[in-house]
Amino acid sequence: MYHLFFRLVFRRMDAEKAHHLAFRWIRAAARVPGLRAAIAAVLAPSHASLATTALGQRMRGPFGLAAGFDKNAVAIDGMSMLGFDHVEIGTVTAQQQSGNPAPRLFRLVGDRALINRMGFNNDGSAAVAARLARRRTVFPTTVGVNIGKTKVVPEGEAVQDYVTSAERLARYADYLVVNVSSPNTPGLRNLQATEALRPLLAGVREAADRAVTGRRVPLLVKIAPDLADADVDAVADLAVELGLDGIIATNTTIAREGLGLTSDPAVVAQTGGLSGAPLADRSLEVLRRLYARVGDRITLVGVGGVETAEDAWRRILAGATLVQGYSAFVYQGPFWMRAVHKGLAARLAASPYATLADAVGADTRKVTS
Ligand SMILES: Cc1cc2nc3c(=O)[nH]c(=O)nc-3n(C[C@H](O)[C@H](O)[C@H](O)COP(=O)(O)O)c2cc1C
Repeated sequence: MYHLFFRLVFRRMDAEKAHHLAFRWIRAAARVPGLRAAIAAVLAPSHASLATTALGQRMRGPFGLAAGFDKNAVAIDGMSMLGFDHVEIGTVTAQQQSGNPAPRLFRLVGDRALINRMGFNNDGSAAVAARLARRRTVFPTTVGVNIGKTKVVPEGEAVQDYVTSAERLARYADYLVVNVSSPNTPGLRNLQATEALRPLLAGVREAADRAVTGRRVPLLVKIAPDLADADVDAVADLAVELGLDGIIATNTTIAREGLGLTSDPAVVAQTGGLSGAPLADRSLEVLRRLYARVGDRITLVGVGGVETAEDAWRRILAGATLVQGYSAFVYQGPFWMRAVHKGLAARLAASPYATLADAVGADTRKVTS
């Protein structure tokens, strides 16, 4: 039914307008107690076998919403109501910014992909922190907070910019993510080089520790699929060296070649990051590489082109403790999370593993042992 609705309504609308419309409906439904309970009962049934502990949090499952959908932390309960086991808000920057001019979000329907050059449109970390402070939790969801660099801040002042956001937001974060991998802020991805990344991650770690006493906020870094393999290894080694809690692999790609894209070449040629199905192979490859390097020392989050329960299961076997999605939600709609959970529970039950935790990295361990 969603597919029909998508074809008849959303597909005929500008992609960003469709996003805002769907988002308004989700938020409105989540404000009505009886309705949200009914929706959650249908879309987010619990599967006890999928309960997951990661980053110090007990979660009802491993499958969460990737950053970029709820940039301003306005729909955490709505997304939880739809069945996401954790919600990563952001990317939030120290200063409010409106992002790139529209149009800036494009659908590649035949490829089950999106291209976006949103450019971190968000309310800024002071406003988002105030919103999180006011939030009255309805569903006890794990909330990740993803931070990035304000566009007008020069690369040389990036650390202070991230530190400002970390100081404001860390206390509301079940985990904090340093995003150095979006392609739509000029120079941002240069921060993935270890010489730049080391002081950035150390600075954010100290800021989170200063801002939050009594608990240690887990810190993760989110990387691009376009890193060369040697650079993936370098980030993995740095993460271990700095005692980082996790790595999120991956963000969108700037690549277009070799992905088998069949959409209108004019759309394919749009500047921005490509997400969805064509990203799956490289994201999985990066995840495998990371797991082979860091093993269980660091929590890995697999994201990029996850469409089915089988995809999510393969990420877990490759080394992901948590899995996220974004683009497939746009194409598959509100029953998607339910289907992924059901399929994951079935796969776990049919597998030789007693728990999801036992399955994490099983494929990669087989290859490397
Ligand atoms: C419209 C859009 C906006 C995004 N914004 C962000 C963002 O602000 N921060 C971020 O870390 N990732 C952002 N992402 C990347 C996603 O979090 C995710 O890493 C990527 O889309 C790959 O997952 P998918 O193939 O399931 O969509 C965005 C993706 C899309 C499609």
